[in-house]
Amino acid sequence: MRVLGIESSCDETAAAVVEDGVRVLSDVVASQHEVHARYGGVVPELASRAHVVNVVPVLRAALERAGTPLEAIDGIAVTNAPGLVGALLVGLQTAKAIAWATGLPIVGVHHLEGHLSAIFLEPEPPPMPHLALIVSGGHTSLVRVNGHGEVLELGATRDDAAGEAFDKGAKLLGLGYPGGVVIDRLARTGDPKAVWFPKAMTSGATGHAMSFSGLKTALLHHVQQHGIPEGQGLADLCASYQAAIVEQLVRKTRRAARREGLQHVQICGGVAANSALRAALQKAGAEDDFRVYVPPPARCTDNAAMIAAAGHHRLARGERAGLELDAVPSAPLPRLA
Ligand code: KG4
Ligand code: ZN
Repeated sequence: MRVLGIESSCDETAAAVVEDGVRVLSDVVASQHEVHARYGGVVPELASRAHVVNVVPVLRAALERAGTPLEAIDGIAVTNAPGLVGALLVGLQTAKAIAWATGLPIVGVHHLEGHLSAIFLEPEPPPMPHLALIVSGGHTSLVRVNGHGEVLELGATRDDAAGEAFDKGAKLLGLGYPGGVVIDRLARTGDPKAVWFPKAMTSGATGHAMSFSGLKTALLHHVQQHGIPEGQGLADLCASYQAAIVEQLVRKTRRAARREGLQHVQICGGVAANSALRAALQKAGAEDDFRVYVPPPARCTDNAAMIAAAGHHRLARGERAGLELDAVPSAPLPRLA
């Protein structure tokens, strides 16, 4: 079964063709980072307009690169929740127009179910059940994955997402958008112990819950007191700030793996591309005896191959959406079981 995936929930317009939920025939992403960079974050109105401009060329490229005409596609999977509603509508309406014109079946995919599915496009995906740490620009949660689409959320951030902590921190330091990649790069030559940041959510009573907004405030206070450093000082500050985010993510993941008795852990979402997080979780896994699975960086950030992979399982189960399928800006991760 060949599934055409379409993703437009935030600032990436993406289309992909995936065969049998595992083989990527094409994976095209048009990023809007340049559009939003000078605002230090995504401007929803500009995102919608850029999706309108990009969606047809991206779709064409995905079908061409896959060597698959529309007639050889068996179903369409489109992100319909959560995200910026104007952005979601562009991909969704395009998908519905294709479904209406061709008669192809269509399913809506929750963006985070997409992120959870990216790892199944790799040669050695984790077995079920496993633990997943979802870390993106809008979400940070720990979930138990019992099967495709069968998830149980164990805990989530109470305030900012980890990606938001990176983006807002970078904005504060005048480093542009998206901030995660810049902080990741600058931190490589910095000393993570140079600047002290508070450890959040250390009490056992906080369970699997996380919190990142205090770190952002601590960074603000540091900058108010000392100004924005340059050169090595900036690298040290980035490394220390990043280390504080990573420390909490790793501590909470370790704890969840132990509590749930799970020996396989995947990380997904844009922040899973972070080199310090990848390294720290691998080290924790070696110490605590769990195996870590991470998609390649380009499949951590938004793409449509992951949406096609998630949609494959829904289509294969016989699920079909009607043409009244709507865009939902905020929706919990759907759970089958
Ligand atoms: O999954 P994603 O592409 O979009 C959402 O679903 O939100 O994640 C985007 C987030 C942004 O906050 C971005 O700064 C962060 O992922 N990110 C990173 C890195 N690459 C992207 N954060 C830390 N280190 C990175 N290398
Ligand atoms: Zn995402």
